[in-house]
Amino acid sequence: MAEIKKAFVCGDPIKHSRSPLIHGHWLDQYNIKGSYEAVAVSPDELPQFMRRMIEDDWAGGNFTIPHKQAVFERLDNVDDAACAIGAVNTVWIESGKLCGGNTDAYGFAANLDAQVPLWRSAQTAMVFGAGGAARAVVFALLTAGIGKIFLVNRTLERAEELANSFGIAVNAMNWDDAAAKLPEADLLINTTSLGMDGQPAFPLELSNARIDAIASDIVYVPLETPFLAMAKMRGLQTSDGLGMLLHQATPGFEKWFGLKPQVDEVLRQRIIDDLNG
Ligand code: ATR
Repeated sequence: MAEIKKAFVCGDPIKHSRSPLIHGHWLDQYNIKGSYEAVAVSPDELPQFMRRMIEDDWAGGNFTIPHKQAVFERLDNVDDAACAIGAVNTVWIESGKLCGGNTDAYGFAANLDAQVPLWRSAQTAMVFGAGGAARAVVFALLTAGIGKIFLVNRTLERAEELANSFGIAVNAMNWDDAAAKLPEADLLINTTSLGMDGQPAFPLELSNARIDAIASDIVYVPLETPFLAMAKMRGLQTSDGLGMLLHQATPGFEKWFGLKPQVDEVLRQRIIDDLNG
């Protein structure tokens, strides 16, 4: 009998996770004998859960809030992206050792490759926000060789800290200073929830953005964020955040189940239907 490989997504809370739907879709699509389940694990339970990963014969899994940093210290090997981003979202077992990585930067780049491949010729990017998501985006931009990055954030110290950890190609600034630099950027990326219901308005007009710039959002609820709506009004090419969610899931699936899955329209539509309830 063929071995059934088991993977999980682990978080607290975990009910909202779309990962079981994504991986379940691929398991069906490729007719793989495997399972992917959501497991609620509190921070107190995390050490025991990780010890049992090997004993209970899991192939690996995803870790989400609040475990992305705590998992880091409990791994035998961590990939370069996770080290740079300071968080792990994907874990697998290799020769009896617990290995982990961060697939967010990969997912960001792979999504842009699929939606607006010209992004790779960008030379200057402007990133809005300086949280964990912005860190993954900056790592992806630097990996793609984008030479200059403006990092815009309300709390300047937080942007400076992020910029310093990546070196001289990243320039921290607050929103007031962003307007003057906007015409230099050929790639604009929003990582904040600004402009959405209950949040302050997106603090920057895009009227002096370059007309050939690309605007990308990593937020995917709603699919067309106020930032993307504004960029479209200006005539910019845009890329929404749902593709990043789907693409960041592919390296884990490949590690656990041995096959690199495709991100196609059928899967995308399934997630959109699920988000629409
Ligand atoms: P994530 O890890 O998902 O990126 P986060 O760490 O909470 O989430 O970061 C959210 C980002 O949105 C931050 O850049 C935050 O700015 P601060 O660092 O100044 O907090 C930004 N953000 C959230 N609410 C904001 C608001 N009301 N005004 C301006 N920026 C806001």
